[in-house]
Amino acid sequence: MAQTPVKVTVTGAAGQIGYALLFRIASGQLLGADVPVKLSLLEIPQAVKAAAGTAMELDDCAFPLLSGIEVTDDANKAFDGASVALLVGARPRTAGMERGDLLQANGGIFGPQGKAINDNAADDIRVLVVGNPANTNALIAQQHAPDVPAERFTAMTRLDHNRALSQLAAKLQVPVTEIKKMTIWGNHSATQYPDLFHAEVGGKIAAEQVDEAWLRDTFIPTVAKRGAAIIEARGASSAASAANAAIDHVFDWVNGTEWTSAAIPSDGSYGVPEGIISSFPVASRDGKWEIIQGLEIDAFSRERIDASVRELEEERTAVRELGLI
Ligand code: NAD
Ligand code: LMR
Repeated sequence: MAQTPVKVTVTGAAGQIGYALLFRIASGQLLGADVPVKLSLLEIPQAVKAAAGTAMELDDCAFPLLSGIEVTDDANKAFDGASVALLVGARPRTAGMERGDLLQANGGIFGPQGKAINDNAADDIRVLVVGNPANTNALIAQQHAPDVPAERFTAMTRLDHNRALSQLAAKLQVPVTEIKKMTIWGNHSATQYPDLFHAEVGGKIAAEQVDEAWLRDTFIPTVAKRGAAIIEARGASSAASAANAAIDHVFDWVNGTEWTSAAIPSDGSYGVPEGIISSFPVASRDGKWEIIQGLEIDAFSRERIDASVRELEEERTAVRELGLI
């Protein structure tokens, strides 16, 4: 008998990332080339028409794995029976907006969406938050979904991970496939820490194959500020590369991997306060993320991990004080 289609909900479906993401999901790249999918596109009322236009284009691709598409502005309907939720739609920071305003506006989106997931999603729901500030938006959604296991709420640092692979590969003039054990720690923000002290190239530690000044003054800031550099160059934030990273994250979560980076709820490992949704080196086994344990963290890395984690704690405190969690 044919497999039952898996329902995948994408919020912000009419946006830039949505447009780069939906066709790849429908073609089988999110879950596997033998897994049929049903798509649910959630948008705000003003953008439902544009999302419906994208749905028309999805129809026009006649994807063999795409068994149905719905377009809605009703979160309860969108998440009803969903097994994967990609939370892409968010309130961007606009001129004059303070951090508290940004968190408040996003709390108004991710709180209700978390509740709608809690009340309607399938038991095996997996949530990836892409919309910024992704880690804290994921925390807000998670806190409104008490019936869903906390670890099902994750945030995306896979784009940062892929950027780090690419920058290092270019520096050492090796294919990206030669690089193993790359790690992004902390927040998806400029404080994130891309770690070359555990990454390996050709079986040897990456940090020992580059000079310290390049690592400190070029590599780390280039990766950490790449999002801003893309905005500056394109006049819009990363879309295709963000969609690609979202595909990578969910595919690996479902199908398994030995080492990548993902922001997942901390269990206290590596001194990261429990509950914070922070990026770690992770493996995925039996459909669950596991933090890779036992890495030695030297003073250089410790300082940078702590700085990014501190920022996440401040964001958690701010959303608590705003009554958002
Ligand atoms: P976009 O502005 O093109 O699209 C966002 C869409 O979300 C819009 O269509 C908007 O109508 C919709 N939306 C807003 N509120 C919504 C709600 N409550 N429910 C459903 N839909 C809603 O933006 P984009 O380029 O697609 O980027 C989306 C988000 O992803 C932004 O927050 C961006 O900063 C973030 N982003 C994250 C990463 C990452 O690595 N984590 C990378 C790139 C971009
Ligand atoms: C990125 O890393 O490309 C984005 O998070 C940047 C942004 O602010 O949307």
